[in-house]
Amino acid sequence: MTPQDQLKQQAAQAALEYVPAGSIVGVGTGSTVNFFIDALAGIKNQIEGAVSSSEASTKRLRAHGIEVLDLNAVSDVPVYVDGADETNAHLQLIKGGGGALTREKIIAQLAKKFVCVADESKMVQRLGKFPLPIEVIPMARSMIARELVKLGGQPVYRDGFVTDNGNQILDVHNLEIMEPAKLEAELNNLPGIVTVGLFAIRPADVLILGTANGIRTLT
Ligand code: A5P
Repeated sequence: MTPQDQLKQQAAQAALEYVPAGSIVGVGTGSTVNFFIDALAGIKNQIEGAVSSSEASTKRLRAHGIEVLDLNAVSDVPVYVDGADETNAHLQLIKGGGGALTREKIIAQLAKKFVCVADESKMVQRLGKFPLPIEVIPMARSMIARELVKLGGQPVYRDGFVTDNGNQILDVHNLEIMEPAKLEAELNNLPGIVTVGLFAIRPADVLILGTANGIRTLT
């Protein structure tokens, strides 16, 4: 395991303390969350089940014998645990590097508490160095790409990638994200955009960072 993986694993393990007994746990997607799923398996008899943000996480949860419920059958998700591609000090995030942003944002919206788990390399002063993923309806891709160029970004089509929802991803480089929530709201208004990978209007509630000096928790 790489040193970075060890930090991810430490952060993921620390998130267990936010999982209430008897609850339905919201589960994100990515390499850090994979460590969380593996840790969750250790307490699977203490939870009711999970709701999942991707086919990949669903598969891993089921392989551990954790029941995955249909989100439409669930009204109460006390906690959602997910990773991030970038976070700022306000716990506003860029997500979607793995392409699961839409289902991630849906569960984050429903959850009472959003716990973000990451290694310390994900913490940045200003969001935007990581290209911003945007899920788009395929027929709108070029139109949206032109709009993103007007905003100063350089959209790159994630060629050959199809989301779990059958859509496409534009990764937008070189955006200066001075006001994340404002940009998120602006992009949410463009027809054809399904989901913007900015989690700023609804940021994380807790950030657990794995660092070389141990766990650092921000709220
Ligand atoms: C998945 O679409 C993403 O939002 C992930 O949460 C994000 O890319 C973090 O992934 P890692 O934990 O693999 O860095």
